[in-house]
Amino acid sequence: MTIFIDGIPNEAQAGEHLIDVIVRSGVEIPHVCYHPQLGPIQTCDTCLVDVDGELVRACAIPVSQEMSVRTTTSRAQAARTEAFDRILTRHLLYCTVCDNNNGNCVVHNTTKMLGVEHQNLPFVPKPYEVDNTNPFYRYDPDQCILCGRCVEACQDLQVNETLSIRWEDAHPRVLWDGGATINESSCVSCGHCVTVCPCNALMEKSMIHHAGFMTGLSKPAIDGMIDIVKGLEHETGYRAIMKVSEVEAKMRETRIRRTKTVCTYCGVGCSFDIWTKDRHILKVEPAEGPANGVSTCIKGKFAWDFVNNGDRLTAPLIREGDRFREASWDEALELVSKRLAEIKQSNGADALAFIASSKCTNEESYLMQKLARAVIGTNNVDNCSRYCQAPATAGLFRTVGYGGDSGSIRDIEKADLVIIVGSNTAESHPVLATRVKRAHKLHGQKLIVSDLRENEMARRADVHLHPRAGTDLVWLSAISRYLLDNGLAHDAFLGEWVNNLDAYRESLKPFTLEFASQTCGLAIETLTQVAHMIADAKGVCVLWAMGVTQHSNGSDTSTAISNLLLVTGNYMRPGTGAYPLRGHNNVQGASDHGSMPNFLPGYQSVDDPAVRNKFENAWNVSLPSTKGLDNHEMVDAIHEGKLKGMYLFGEEMSIVDSNANYVSAAFGKLDFFVVQDIFFSQTCRFADVVLPASPSLEKEGTFTSTERRVQRLYQVFEPLEGSRPDWQIVQQVANRLGAAWNYQHPSEVMDEIASLTPMFAGVNYERLEGYKSLQWPVTADGADEPLLYTKRFNFPDGKARLFPLLWREAPERPDAEFDLLLNNGRLLEHFHEGNLTYRSPGIRAKTPDTFVEVSPELAEARGIKSGSLVQLTSRRGRLRVRAVVSDRVHNGELYMPMNSAENPVNVLTGSHTDLATHTPAYKETAVKMQVLKEDGESPLPRTNSRFGHPTPQRGVEVERKWKRPDYRMPGNGLVHIGTK
Ligand code: SF4
Ligand code: SF4
Ligand code: SF4
Ligand code: FES
Repeated sequence: MTIFIDGIPNEAQAGEHLIDVIVRSGVEIPHVCYHPQLGPIQTCDTCLVDVDGELVRACAIPVSQEMSVRTTTSRAQAARTEAFDRILTRHLLYCTVCDNNNGNCVVHNTTKMLGVEHQNLPFVPKPYEVDNTNPFYRYDPDQCILCGRCVEACQDLQVNETLSIRWEDAHPRVLWDGGATINESSCVSCGHCVTVCPCNALMEKSMIHHAGFMTGLSKPAIDGMIDIVKGLEHETGYRAIMKVSEVEAKMRETRIRRTKTVCTYCGVGCSFDIWTKDRHILKVEPAEGPANGVSTCIKGKFAWDFVNNGDRLTAPLIREGDRFREASWDEALELVSKRLAEIKQSNGADALAFIASSKCTNEESYLMQKLARAVIGTNNVDNCSRYCQAPATAGLFRTVGYGGDSGSIRDIEKADLVIIVGSNTAESHPVLATRVKRAHKLHGQKLIVSDLRENEMARRADVHLHPRAGTDLVWLSAISRYLLDNGLAHDAFLGEWVNNLDAYRESLKPFTLEFASQTCGLAIETLTQVAHMIADAKGVCVLWAMGVTQHSNGSDTSTAISNLLLVTGNYMRPGTGAYPLRGHNNVQGASDHGSMPNFLPGYQSVDDPAVRNKFENAWNVSLPSTKGLDNHEMVDAIHEGKLKGMYLFGEEMSIVDSNANYVSAAFGKLDFFVVQDIFFSQTCRFADVVLPASPSLEKEGTFTSTERRVQRLYQVFEPLEGSRPDWQIVQQVANRLGAAWNYQHPSEVMDEIASLTPMFAGVNYERLEGYKSLQWPVTADGADEPLLYTKRFNFPDGKARLFPLLWREAPERPDAEFDLLLNNGRLLEHFHEGNLTYRSPGIRAKTPDTFVEVSPELAEARGIKSGSLVQLTSRRGRLRVRAVVSDRVHNGELYMPMNSAENPVNVLTGSHTDLATHTPAYKETAVKMQVLKEDGESPLPRTNSRFGHPTPQRGVEVERKWKRPDYRMPGNGLVHIGTK
């Protein structure tokens, strides 16, 4: 449609907010509280314009055809100025000595835009102290303009529901849990509020005293300067003072770098700018990430201390007996290549194995498998997707043909119904969870959660299923059968797009609702309710993770999920599909790029002669044709004496693999073991050579997130002296083994990948520049597929396949001796064993150690309190850990987060696996528990967010502000536009 702004026609889309069109048109008017990713908040009144003779808030009014907007009428201008004057009563302008004066301060820029010379209304301090209690950010009430952006972000975007403003107070301020200190509130330190704050009221502590040239001065000195400037203001006006601060802001550009990167933690794929001054990280600034927008979690926003941690490895280490000595790169690389060559010479190429890192880049995964295959001549190469994701990939390969999420996070947002199976999404994939929480809170999305624990998503769900452990396959299959039997399946979809219906129906015979009810311990009524919710929903997305995959039937349960989606026609459309939530930042990419024993890059099979031929011609070698060992088989092969040497990078395999004592014993038997990492990890203890690598901030490359989204990361810092990027190290090893690789930059590696891999044919660094991204498959012309299967499934005939399943009980279940079930998984604040996150002092303070969750019933029966020391013993090992009594777990089910290198849960887990993929059944661990000491300090301090008391509400509730007796609308004839 066309609208007229100051008489000039402008194109607009129906539903757009007027302010967006005004901004696009280039007309400058303030809009202090408006943020496009938050929507209208309507607290500041600075965006008032004349529309058809009435003053309206441009942020709140949707455009309409032929709308006539006047921004320059005197009453609109006067109203905006008055509104901003009011804002300045709540904010002291001391820009030159403010760490937020970096060219993007909304209050500063609005002062300049409006040409404010003098403050008509005086600044009024608020009667509150600065809150410095949170380790990562601080709140200064005196600088807070009460715009409510932070509240809106916390309530309705992050949906942690910690922040509010009590508008009725004499001096309103932002409140945490209605009035707690930040550190004792439910705040999860995600940083949304800090990111969207338009001024310096909320600020990252890492910015304070560091960003400006003069902001590092002592407080008395800064206060003195503020007084002098304020004294001058009467004579000079703000304009002159603003000029000085602008010069200062400009000077900061010479030393503050802003570099785009992609988060190194989970698979959501958040991207952001990292602001640095030399090697100091000033802040993480998300804005336009295609997966995350302004969103982050505590790890992506604040957990980067590890990069400059003093424990970083800065020289190669060579074992001498029981000790390591530092060595030169030359000596270490020579030793590595010599020993790998010797083992190959005397025992054959298959006596060597290679483990690539799902923390490292796609290019690095590609080079590792190329080293294994093209230089050594073995397919013994794998990555840690074996520990979590392989069963989900297998389930999707069986049914729909691609091993990846079938759509994007946006599809999950759009779905009518989201089903989460075996995933603690709010802690393991926090930013993705915010999109579900938001859709559920604001847009009527329905949520079903199947999980043993009452995690946050389960508490929010419309239906929380608590099936007996490992029985999800049964209820999923029973619902498929019920829908088919009762005419609730999508027959047209099945007829047109799906093969194998008859055999599948036959296989469903045992899966009656009665059988499911008995096996899973779920009421028939609940199962029927779930079935009808699925049948009634226009679009269903199923999200699952390790609660499904880390079972002995992980591949089959993943398949059952996809079968259910096919039966109900929930593929091929926006807002539908299958979403295995990938764990590590690049676990998807590590597999995509060929670090798998059976696939060359792009899931091209090693036993396909045509595929091999293509790679052989390109690499000028002959390639092994039989499937190699996966990492589970590698451990057995070491014990059997078949595997002699191993090269592993960026994996903490000795404690992350299940049955850790067995894995450690294997590593102890290796003739030669190379470990490449940024810290001396637990796995390094078994190494013969340790090579110091560089983390993501010190290199270039690409990561692929759970949405199959390939994104570039740019180098923020030079590699710490002595360390090297993994791609360079792998290349140096390869060349010493006779290869003649000459990659000067990871982009050249990507060009080679694209030339050999149809799935990535159109991927190159230009197409991924800045915040641009591509969701594979990508054709040569650069077209990608955010939503898969819009035209066909990925099988030769274009049709999906229903896959018949059998039900088997887990091989290990609680019994008379090992009477409790030990579940395990992630915790919001830490990533995996915590090698990176424990190096953040703030995270360590909030979550210092692992613990075991014990249900109130079990605690009562065994005399356990939070803080009691218990010993857990399984058939494989034992450990001591402190208990937390929690109603998140029930009866005899325990839960232990995996974040401990000292007491890793995997000394307890076993070696039994999913049959199809060898993914360990981590979640099938029976233990017994002995109380060693009844009293002790709780392992979770009071300052952990789990003890907070959120205050849910819809956004900032601006209507309560408008009801204040002292609130008067600026200008005349203001029209209130109702809030969302
Ligand atoms: S949870 Fe904490 S850090 Fe995140 S938006 Fe809310 S108050 Fe801010
Ligand atoms: S603290 Fe919140 S209300 Fe205050 S200025 Fe910042 S975003 Fe606005
Ligand atoms: S850990 Fe995951 S959710 Fe958190 S910022 Fe990183 S990518 Fe985003
Ligand atoms: S931008 Fe604040 S009311 Fe419109």
